[in-house]
Amino acid sequence: MDLDDRHEFGRSGDVPANARTLWHGRFTGGPDEALLAYTVSLPFDQRMWADDIAGSTAHVNGLARAGLLTADEREAILAALARVADEMDTRTFEFVETDEDIHTAIERRVTELAGPAGGKLHSARSRNDQVATDLRLWCRRELRSVAARLVDLQRVLLDQALAAGDTYLPGYTHLQRAQPVLLAHHLMAHGWALGRDVDRLIDALDRMDVSPLGAGALAGSSLPIDPFGTAEELGFAKPFENSLDAVSDRDFVAEALFVLALVGVHLSRIGEEWVLWTSAEYGFAVLDDGFATGSSMLPQKKNPDIAELARGKSGRLIGNLTGLLTTLKGLPLAYNRDLQEDKEPLFDSVEQVALAVAAITGMIATATFVPERMQQAADEATMAATDLAEHLVRSGVPFREAHAIVGDHVRRALADGSELRDLVEADPRLGDDGAALVADGVAVAMRRSHGAGGPAARPHQIEAYREMLAAESDALGL
Ligand code: ARG
Repeated sequence: MDLDDRHEFGRSGDVPANARTLWHGRFTGGPDEALLAYTVSLPFDQRMWADDIAGSTAHVNGLARAGLLTADEREAILAALARVADEMDTRTFEFVETDEDIHTAIERRVTELAGPAGGKLHSARSRNDQVATDLRLWCRRELRSVAARLVDLQRVLLDQALAAGDTYLPGYTHLQRAQPVLLAHHLMAHGWALGRDVDRLIDALDRMDVSPLGAGALAGSSLPIDPFGTAEELGFAKPFENSLDAVSDRDFVAEALFVLALVGVHLSRIGEEWVLWTSAEYGFAVLDDGFATGSSMLPQKKNPDIAELARGKSGRLIGNLTGLLTTLKGLPLAYNRDLQEDKEPLFDSVEQVALAVAAITGMIATATFVPERMQQAADEATMAATDLAEHLVRSGVPFREAHAIVGDHVRRALADGSELRDLVEADPRLGDDGAALVADGVAVAMRRSHGAGGPAARPHQIEAYREMLAAESDALGL
């Protein structure tokens, strides 16, 4: 996707008196400047030009198979489409005032280039089935690429997890230190969340694998078109079953926006942690200079702007989803111009998530962790409190009672500044065995059940994570 495309062809000035629209036959006057200014979608939908050419090519081949175009006419239109593709590619395509959207622009140019044959391009087709087709083609390509970027981020999380060795840090609940976990465990936790996002994208891609081409404006055609043939040529699994549904369905956009919003939420949570981790108060990680920013005034500053923007931009991704759902909810069947509002949120969310994933991936890949700081925080004696209670459970004490016994020791240690370890050692129910649990680095090793945060549970988790990556790569053909 080209970020520069957005405003390149903004228009200004008067509408020429001879301006011709696709619907000029029914109208005596041309479009007013205010109408064009308000209704055009060209500034943002021109990024679908390649998809529009692909859709039109399949349509032209279908018309020829149906006997609606001669071989010469087909050739002439295909040559014109190829020329348009070249003009788009080299940015020499000249848009005119009445090019309302990319579909109109391409059809106008094809007609100029192919002569009378060009006028047959739109037989048995409407912009309604055309735009729905183009947008699915666009989504198919771009969502796969977002998924591939997410897999890269998952890989970086695994690489860092492997490099982290036995480093551990406090695991938190309520942002209060709770129990120590391996850094590897923490990093891979985010990787699992992203794995579900990749899954959701694959699933959404599967569901959107339906061609709307041939639905016409809303009700199909009297001409002998072949939606199966065009669906196949475009690489869709199948054609639509109901023409009204085909042109009014934007579920695939809503689904994409939901998944992208959820990715945004996941990146935001990662971002929030990195903001904390890189603060002097935590000091758990140091960002590479290439992935941090400085301050214009404060010479000492090194700021985690990527992490902050990942957090901040999640609001916009959620907004894009709620905006589209709100647009869709009041629409009667079938096509309504409101549907044009599907594109900007979609393009924006895809663009923003792609940028965010790339930046976060680089930030994590290049960061340096500070194991001393992490382990110092995790070696606080109270972090073994649950293990002390579970030690009592092993000797038959009901957990509720064990919880109260250990809680009492913690309260006393906090009240008079005595060492928890000494109180434990002096308690005959806990004694030396209990005291041993309070030693540095022991609590993390105790986290050994399935899926737990300690080293004993790690090999299986790494294996399962690798299997997840392999399945994703398989599904995406990476
Ligand atoms: N630009 C329009 C869109 O994005 C194309 C479809 C216009 N169809 C119509 N009947 N006016 O939805």
